[in-house]
Amino acid sequence: MTQNELKQQAALAALDYIPDNGILGIGSGSTVNFFIAALANKKHLIGATVASSVASYTLLKQHHIPVVEFNQVATIDVYIDGADEINPLFQMIKGGGGCLLREKILATAARKFVCIADDSKMVKALGAFPLAIEVLPMAQSYVARELVKLGGLPVLREGFITDNHNIILDVHELSFHEPIALEEKLATIPGVLGSGLFARRPADSLLLATTTGIQIKEHR
Ligand code: A5P
Repeated sequence: MTQNELKQQAALAALDYIPDNGILGIGSGSTVNFFIAALANKKHLIGATVASSVASYTLLKQHHIPVVEFNQVATIDVYIDGADEINPLFQMIKGGGGCLLREKILATAARKFVCIADDSKMVKALGAFPLAIEVLPMAQSYVARELVKLGGLPVLREGFITDNHNIILDVHELSFHEPIALEEKLATIPGVLGSGLFARRPADSLLLATTTGIQIKEHR
């Protein structure tokens, strides 16, 4: 099975988690794109979706799936999204696609976060994948220097502007021994709008696609 086929299997398994008449948060990325395509046949079951990116919003609209603004809803019943890495505590590195800020807002607000991934995303320890950090453009140099003080090697994502009109620094070499402490430290740097480290808000369920089938794992 190819990686794309595995992503599609994980996406299909997530259809069992859509909330009856509820608000469904939609992440971003190639795995989520498979989910959106599958959701098109089940859209009558949900109330509406909230999108974490312009790309997901556009795809939802193409499939005639109802989308509302986050400000229009009181809660997100279920949030479904992929990951670049996920560890056994269901903490994640996300943001390879650059949509981490809105993703983190929706994930944190959600009652339930279901992560969908192929098994290449499961890691013992986070950190091989560079950590995306969304930064206010005028603070780029300052934030980069602060990240170096933390042991990181920040690299500007060239030619990329986020949906929120900011830049992304992809940071290599950070230590992930204490993911929650690292996430909190990053959040205190003025000019940092969000990081792709999802440690304070791990996933609740993981649907992991393997060549021998879907593994459903629940956070303990
Ligand atoms: C988007 O910003 C990311 O957080 C994605 O959720 C993550 O990169 C997973 O992407 P794929 O599903 O494309 O692997």
